[in-house]
Amino acid sequence: MRINGQPWFDTDGNVIHAHGGHMLRHGEFWYWYGEDRRDDNYVSCYRSTDLKNWENRGAVLTVNSKTMPMPVRSDLTIKRNVEGVEDRIDGLNVIPASKGKVNIERPKVLYCERTKTFVMWAHYENGVNYSAASVCIATCDTPDGDFIYRGSFRPYGNMSRDCTLFLDDDGEAYFISSSRDNADLKIYRLTADFMNVDEDVRTLFQGMHREAPAVLKRNGKYIMLTSMCTGWAPNQCGFSVSDSMAGRWSMLENFGDETTFDSQPAFILTLDDGRYIYFADRWGGPGEKYFTSTYVALEIKFTENGAPYIEYCENSAI
Ligand code: GAL
Repeated sequence: MRINGQPWFDTDGNVIHAHGGHMLRHGEFWYWYGEDRRDDNYVSCYRSTDLKNWENRGAVLTVNSKTMPMPVRSDLTIKRNVEGVEDRIDGLNVIPASKGKVNIERPKVLYCERTKTFVMWAHYENGVNYSAASVCIATCDTPDGDFIYRGSFRPYGNMSRDCTLFLDDDGEAYFISSSRDNADLKIYRLTADFMNVDEDVRTLFQGMHREAPAVLKRNGKYIMLTSMCTGWAPNQCGFSVSDSMAGRWSMLENFGDETTFDSQPAFILTLDDGRYIYFADRWGGPGEKYFTSTYVALEIKFTENGAPYIEYCENSAI
């Protein structure tokens, strides 16, 4: 049994680094993608048949990943040019210029049935500060192969930071991200190949600074979880409900306690048996503390009215 907030280990006995992640089921496996900031890595991938034993499939996106342009004109910088750049302090973070890494956060992957391609969307920053506020895309023919980096851009020119992807039952995919310096949260419908935004369908929570979006669908209703915007410090998560992605979303109501049990949403896992799992990060903090970040997985329960809630439990739900 895994314990929430304790290090989790892969089948080789190494600590799992897949932060701000996402799980995708494909064939007999669940694939767990997440941030891995060690060495030259950006995005890690683990796979499992039972959501308990995780086999490390290696880093699927690194500073050395191949790049390839796409029709969306994007910035293909995957490694920062370090010439003349010195280590610097950005808020509480020490940014080591020597590593020459950009910052790739909250990777999410969907399989596009139409193009038979695994498409990753993530939050892109230049590795020095959070001014790029862009999304980046990477693609692969297999779930755990070497993803090809397709570049970063701002959807319709909008700033884009914390983000998620959601695939609806009708095959439509959505990208949701914090916009306008995190003040608003935007929902975009994607093109049929999942390689671009096709429509800016809704702007939610005007001026409310929401982050870490995660969506589930249950009994025809869409439920979105979001956190407040307080950096690495945990805060009160909220939920909102809608009859459609592009429709009207309800006012935020509290989800979990004032620190959401010391966690911030990464994604929601939808299981075949009808259960939904709130999967979250318990962040270690900035700098080296980041690497002590752990995970919290709790089953989402629902009231008679369909409102989601969680109760804290030491044992992880997966
Ligand atoms: C959080 C965000 C994380 C990371 C962090 C950096 O608010 O959810 O993904 O960007 O800020 O301070």
